[in-house]
This record gives sequence, C-alpha cells and structure tokens, in this order.
Amino acid sequence: MSDRLKDDPLAALAWLVDSGADETIGDAPVNRLVASSNPPLEGGSKTRSVLGEGSARSAVPPAFKPASSFVPPRPAAPAALALETNESDSIGTAQTLAAAATTLAELKAALEGFDGCALKKNCAHTVFADGNPLSRIMFIGEAPGAEEDRQGLPFVGRAGKLLDKMLAAIELDRTSAYITNVLNWRPPQNRDPSPEEAAMCLPFLRRHIELVNPGIIILLGAVAARHVLGFSEGIMKLRGRWLEYRVGDVMIPVMATLHPAYLLRQPSHKKLAWRDLQATEKKILSLGLLEKTASVR
Ligand code: URA
Repeated sequence: MSDRLKDDPLAALAWLVDSGADETIGDAPVNRLVASSNPPLEGGSKTRSVLGEGSARSAVPPAFKPASSFVPPRPAAPAALALETNESDSIGTAQTLAAAATTLAELKAALEGFDGCALKKNCAHTVFADGNPLSRIMFIGEAPGAEEDRQGLPFVGRAGKLLDKMLAAIELDRTSAYITNVLNWRPPQNRDPSPEEAAMCLPFLRRHIELVNPGIIILLGAVAARHVLGFSEGIMKLRGRWLEYRVGDVMIPVMATLHPAYLLRQPSHKKLAWRDLQATEKKILSLGLLEKTASVR
C-alpha cells in the first residue's frame, strides 16, 4: 500500500475492496510482515491436495508423518508464542467442554458457549448437525458455507442439494442418516480450515461421534478425511477404502469419498462417488444399520 493511502483511510478501504476483501476477520490490524501467528509447517512448504480442495498443510500429529518430512521447529517470536499459548488454551477448553457433554443437546450447548475459535465472531450460527441423531449412519463434511451459516444447518446449499441426491440414490435421507461437519463455523470465503481452527473443533467432533455411536462413518472430501483420520494422503488415494475409526474398544468402519462441492466442479468424477455409495449401501445392508435405526426410533 502506498504512503498516500496510509494517510487516507477511505481511499485505503476502497483499495482493499478493489483488491477483493469483502469481510473483516479481526478487530485489530495485524502486521504479518512482523509476526506470523501461523508458522509454516513442514519446513514452510505449502502444497495442494490432489483434488485441489485445499492446501495439504495438515494437523497430522508428527508421529504419523514420514521421518523424512520432520523439520526441527524454529524458535518462535514472542508475539507468535503468545498466540500459540492462546490457541492451546482454547484447544484445552474445547477438550474439557466436549468431555463434559453427556448428550447431544449438551454438546450443542457447549459449542454454542465456546468462544475459543475466532471464526465464530463472523458467523450468524453455530452449525451443529442435521438428520436423525438415532441413525447409525454418520456423514461428516468440511465446514458450513454461506447458506449453512444463514440457516444454521449443514449441507443446505448447492452442495447439500447434491448430497441429498447422493443419499437418495442409496435409499437414505435426513430421517435415516445423520450429518455434521468438522468445523461448526464458516471460514471466510469458504477457505480451508487452518490446522488451528480444526484442532479447536476436533474435540467436539470426536465427542459428537461418541455420542451418536454410528455403525459407519462416511467422510465427505479431503478436509474431513485429513482431520478425522489424521492422514495427509490425497483423497483420490484414500477414497473408496474401508478403514477404521476407534472409539474406546469399538472400531467403526469409515470410508472417505468425494465432496459434493467437488463433484459439482468435476461432474466426470461422479462415477467414482457412485462406486463409493454402492459400497456404502452394501455395508449398511450387511450390518443391518437401517433396521437398527428403526428399532431405536
Ligand atoms: N460443505 C460442507 O462441507 N459442509 C456443509 O455443511 C456445506 C458445504
């Protein structure tokens, strides 16, 4: 920004709008040239996932990463250190709140009362879930978009309409399936969640899974697969494979598939999603999951 703009706040604002800024994401200005709250992971490299659904920077614990990708951490600048401390406080608070919730209603109330995630400030709603909480079939997406934030429900925009068609193709709907997201608040411009934002929401999601006690989990897209499974593998390699998600002693079959928003951009890949849906239907039938939903209704 030129010196002239620094002295003229209105012209500076117009310059920002012209540059594409259409949302405020904080109350105080941040000089990112001085201190970064988001130190680069994996030696500062930033790559994109196979699907282009977002950056492949992951919140994968170092123990899961190949030894060759380990880079010793650089000493943090004091400002960055303060931010990291706040973030780990928020993650600790999220863990405590989530663990204390013994019902879905309590978990929803805990999320609505949690102010540790900065995304919430710019959102109209905390988007919790939709569908049948007694269902044994759980779908997990990435994060609410604009329409979801307006209505306070997951998957009610364009991608949600396609998800409804995908469910209908295997005889499911929102009375027989349960739907939530990794994030409960919309990231500005629908950008990928940062590892810190995901880390703050994950304790709630993990408790959400425990309370719903699904018989299978379907992860919609690369971001859900990365954060729920902790794998940084691309979605094209992960999709269509039955893996396991552990809750206590119980192993829940989990499969990642392509995100409906991605399928809207790449309709030629719908055939891959269809294969995954057929495998899902087969699993639902073999485990008798629809009957189990009906019997507890
Ligand atoms: N995309 C998601 O991942 N979740 C939603 O709720 C909507 C769009």
